[in-house]
Amino acid sequence: MQKQYKDFVCDLMRADITTIKADAIVNAANTSLLGGGGVDGAIHARGGPSILEECKQIRALNGNRGIAPGEAALTGAGNLPASNVIHAVGPIYRGGTSNEAEILSAAYTNCLKIAQQYQLISIAFPSISTGAYGYPVEEAARIALSTVFDFVRDALDNPPTVDDFVPPLALRKATFVLFDEATLGAYERVMHAMGIS
Ligand code: APR
Repeated sequence: MQKQYKDFVCDLMRADITTIKADAIVNAANTSLLGGGGVDGAIHARGGPSILEECKQIRALNGNRGIAPGEAALTGAGNLPASNVIHAVGPIYRGGTSNEAEILSAAYTNCLKIAQQYQLISIAFPSISTGAYGYPVEEAARIALSTVFDFVRDALDNPPTVDDFVPPLALRKATFVLFDEATLGAYERVMHAMGIS
């Protein structure tokens, strides 16, 4: 399933995100940026040690801390077919009353800001926070898809001026790479219900 806005297209697929060739794939990271399980584990395992080395450099520049929930950071992709990895930290779901929705939306927005800054044309997202972090999938899908389309509509309808110090949006494709049928089905239902076009 896919939906378009002007010359931007967003599609959904079931795959292992480490196999995806895109300008950037997004990692569902944690605040340490030192790896973990799930997507994080797969990206580091298949991407090789250079990704972790770059994450450690980011930490070193940040007082030996990682990044906060909702933030994102760019590294190379090591041995992966993708060109870059954007490490994004989603919220741990604690019932929905601790700003989880805002943090999840910010994680996607910050990935898109990096994509715009680096003139990336294609990006692949996993379903951030719906694994170990326990975010209910349908709600997370609604936040993910609406955040992506709101960002792209605004960037395409209101191109930045020279004073904005950001280049025009180069992004033309975003793919949500879901790991199982249930998650793919949830994203399909949400995309269909949103009538995104
Ligand atoms: N490709 C695509 N999606 C994947 C892959 C993969 N290789 N592996 C897992 N997923 C899916 C999961 O099934 C889930 O739907 O990604 C979604 C996010 O799950 P997690 O990877 O557990 O990420 P998250 O819920 O954001 O939790 C992040 O888990 O792995 C640790 O270090 C990570 O502490 C961080 C936390």
